Amino acid sequence: MTTSAQTALLTELEPVVADNLDRHVSMAKEWHPHDYVPWSEGRDFAFLGGADWAPEQSRLDETARAAMITNLLTEDNLPSYHREIATRFGRDGAWGQWVGRWTAEENRHGIALRDYLLVTRGVDPVALERARMDYMASGYDSGDKSPLEALAYVSFQELATRVSHRNTGRATGDPIADKLLARIATDENLHMVFYRNLMAAAFDIDPDLAMQAVTTEVVGFEMPGATMTGFRRMSMLIAKAGIYDLRLHHDEVVSPVLRAWRVFERTDLGPAGEKAREELAEFLTGLDAAATRFVESRERARARVAAREA
Ligand SMILES: [Fe+2]
Ligand SMILES: [Fe+2]
Repeated sequence: MTTSAQTALLTELEPVVADNLDRHVSMAKEWHPHDYVPWSEGRDFAFLGGADWAPEQSRLDETARAAMITNLLTEDNLPSYHREIATRFGRDGAWGQWVGRWTAEENRHGIALRDYLLVTRGVDPVALERARMDYMASGYDSGDKSPLEALAYVSFQELATRVSHRNTGRATGDPIADKLLARIATDENLHMVFYRNLMAAAFDIDPDLAMQAVTTEVVGFEMPGATMTGFRRMSMLIAKAGIYDLRLHHDEVVSPVLRAWRVFERTDLGPAGEKAREELAEFLTGLDAAATRFVESRERARARVAAREA
């Protein structure tokens, strides 16, 4: 698709953006990061005469710490995501308003998570700051996605973030963190709905192109944090704990979004769209099988640990 055709598509989608921005603003409830932070637990660090962080101060286990750090660093890279979506969708009109609003909401997530973790001494603040510097300095680059591919990607990615925040909250075992992450997850869900609705409109405008974009993004999907240092190790812990794994990815992220677009019921696809849909179906079969294998091996590993401890 040529650049001018893509620009035309974005222009055609603009009224849908305006409608969904209104919908979003009417649905989104104001909330404040400071409400979710137990400030009474806060203490000075050694620089101001107090004590520096020590692992035993954290009430989070290794998995909850890994999930919190991954989620926070992912949120921290917002300047890169802002650049990605502002350059794809532009800064004019409803698109520009959405990009601004979305960016401001996302920033709240990083603020709230960091305040919570520093005040409760949940993670090593020195390691956290070094990791932020490292990850933000290298930035995030989604490659050469077309605007439609970017729309398809963020539809899945926002829902993936919702699921991982929600389950991270549960994994902390702390009612305050659970509440905070549930609140953030609600934002992510609204973001997902916004992008999913736009993609639904794109399907009606150009079903074949939309279908191809969806297949490309499902097949090549990577979490936005995938390039951070230590991501493989942390995502293994996250998957082992069932915070985010292939089963959740298939059942709670990819499948519901595809259902909302009625991908497998559409009768308006041409040959190119049909081909992309077949490729997608084949990929999903493999993903489902891989998810089953992963869950089975996780259950075997848990049973071994339980037997050892009995
Ligand atoms: Fe977020
Ligand atoms: Fe989001």
